[in-house]
Amino acid sequence: MSRPNLTVPSDPALAPGEARCPGPSMQDILDADGDNPPAAMRVEQYNFLGNADLPFDRYHDPAFLERELEQLWPNVWQWACREEHIPEPGDRYVYDVGFHSVLVVRGADSKIRAFINSCPHRGMKFAAEGARGVRRSHIRCPFHGMSWNLDGTLREIPCRWDFPHVDEGNFGLDEIACESWGGFVFIHMGEAPPPLAEQLEVLPEHFRLWPMDDRYVALHTEKVLPANWKMAMEAFLEAFHVLETHSQAVYTAADANAQYDIFGPHVSRFMHAVGVPSPHLQQALSEASLFGKLGRDPAQLPPGASARAEHARLLRQELGAQFGVDLSAVSTSEMMDSIEYFLFPNAFFFPGINIRLCYRFRPLGVDQCLHEILVLQPLPKDGQRPPPAKPIRLDVADSYTTVPGFALAEILDQDTDNLALQRDGAKASRKGGQTLGNYQEARIRRLHLTLDEYLAR
Ligand code: FES
Ligand SMILES: [Fe+2]
Repeated sequence: MSRPNLTVPSDPALAPGEARCPGPSMQDILDADGDNPPAAMRVEQYNFLGNADLPFDRYHDPAFLERELEQLWPNVWQWACREEHIPEPGDRYVYDVGFHSVLVVRGADSKIRAFINSCPHRGMKFAAEGARGVRRSHIRCPFHGMSWNLDGTLREIPCRWDFPHVDEGNFGLDEIACESWGGFVFIHMGEAPPPLAEQLEVLPEHFRLWPMDDRYVALHTEKVLPANWKMAMEAFLEAFHVLETHSQAVYTAADANAQYDIFGPHVSRFMHAVGVPSPHLQQALSEASLFGKLGRDPAQLPPGASARAEHARLLRQELGAQFGVDLSAVSTSEMMDSIEYFLFPNAFFFPGINIRLCYRFRPLGVDQCLHEILVLQPLPKDGQRPPPAKPIRLDVADSYTTVPGFALAEILDQDTDNLALQRDGAKASRKGGQTLGNYQEARIRRLHLTLDEYLAR
């Protein structure tokens, strides 16, 4: 079979954003699989969002970060923790973003509430981020020992005689909105926020068959990355970079023919197939060779079998046994492809089985951010929920290969190794902005359009 030529310009008769890679589409690949992936994967939703350059000062201007901290973060729903991080009454979890800090607490009534993490007395944080799982019947300030009940009402002021001016009914913790979806606890710091469901857009419908509350945190990393939070995140919003940055994947990853969907201001998706060669690969690849590139023994591929289908069949057995679940009804694509949903402003959810991740990104100043990865594994069918994995902290220079049992370590190192060069090149630029692909990089444009909407409110 001859390979498509991907270096020629698109047909000038096409409107901007209409051109697609000449390779087989994601939908063609799903057709060829023929094993009935969920209806959500058959949806395609893209429209052209413009092609103007995106200015680099959005990444390195301290005033822009200030605007984000004042206008975006206090006015948007964001995932603070998993419910399993606070399973029992009195459990708490601190979530910080910039100077904002939130204390998420499970009450005596098992209800999860969120409070601004600042003592009404003299502003002390009740706990620092990372101080997790401290189970107590009340919330006690470590400075002077004032304390509050788990529902935020005042419990006790030591030396009460010295505070005759304090009205107990008016000295509770500053409660903020808190809702859950898929086992994730979301918080919103704004006054009268919209329901979480509005921001989730298609996610509840699409994830009906992928219940994230039936998964547990099997691995958790927190890595400091040397770039603005948006720049770091954008490396995970497109598969255009796969050819160059992850060149080893050319045999097994459909990159240029990935599908990109923009479902609304907050939710977008890409789906790129694994076990299908890149349209960039110039030589034809036999099914046996492809099977070998997937890490299998080429001699073990049954005659006439497709490498992708056979790999998925083996994964169903292997991962099913490893997780203690029945994966026999899971489609090939859900088993092995990179299916990635983005939720504005900073969260990613992968419902697949072999690629089963969640990410979030948070600013740490203008030029650094924190990237957390949670490997969310299906719960064993006996229903016992293992405790969530403790976060493994990695600094800028630390490799993901130091994380025991992390299959994607090499790929993540390749992604994150780009960031310092991109950060510095963007600062050096005299052109002043980045030029995005109309289709493959549309999710990046959508992110910035939505960010502008929040900043303009
Ligand atoms: S600052 Fe919290 S009790 Fe004083
Ligand atoms: Fe990548």
